[in-house]
Amino acid sequence: MTTPGLIARLSAGGPRITVGMLTADLGALNDELAVVAAAGVELVHIDVMDGVFCPMLTLGAPVVRAMRTPMLKDVHLMVDDPLAKVAAFVAAGADLVTFHLEGVAQPRRVLTSLSGAVNANDPERGVIRGVAITPSTPVAAIEPLLGDLEYVLILAVDPGWGGQSFAPSTPDRVAQARELIRTSGRPVLLGVDGGVTRANIAEVLALGADIVVTGSAVYDGRATADNARFMMQVASATR
Ligand code: DX5
Ligand code: ZN
Repeated sequence: MTTPGLIARLSAGGPRITVGMLTADLGALNDELAVVAAAGVELVHIDVMDGVFCPMLTLGAPVVRAMRTPMLKDVHLMVDDPLAKVAAFVAAGADLVTFHLEGVAQPRRVLTSLSGAVNANDPERGVIRGVAITPSTPVAAIEPLLGDLEYVLILAVDPGWGGQSFAPSTPDRVAQARELIRTSGRPVLLGVDGGVTRANIAEVLALGADIVVTGSAVYDGRATADNARFMMQVASATR
């Protein structure tokens, strides 16, 4: 079960940036992680794609385990049948495990299988259980699960690639999710993922999410440290 500590940490102090690593130099991944950690980024967003749920095939639990970083490991599972897979990512050190509603028939079973999960980095920390929805899925679909999760991730892009454009339906969807969470009275974190760049990050942060993913706008192959610092500055100005 997630200890209040991790939830309290991520719900306090205003919105956080989690940096997507897909467009980092994967041949020097730990060095790349150190660059954004040095800019004060607290979470690394790890996009796991199985080539079935979405076209791309990226990485598995062994790579998550090999990532050595002080940042929280925010694992985004874009996989079919996550029930069979989540435990391996918890064992590999995931601090947040988010799977897709669209990838499983019985999502509550996956959440139940994660309750009581022991965090491999720090048993005191707990593991945050997240459910993600793509732009094709009505936000109302998360409502039945709000009592069994700690995190809702609203995708602003179709799963499968970095560098896509932010879907214009996203602000309304974030507002709907915020209202459902407020009405539930549950301490659920809200995230937005995909298409967040220097140009729109202030606008996205103003939507009121707790966690915002930004990947290729940070790991752009040219100015990673400066990009990370920029995103952190905008986030702290939102607080
Ligand atoms: C898309 C992934 C996103 C994406 C973010 O399937 O879940 O996390 O990689 O990358 P950018 O910020 O480049 O859209
Ligand atoms: Zn993602």
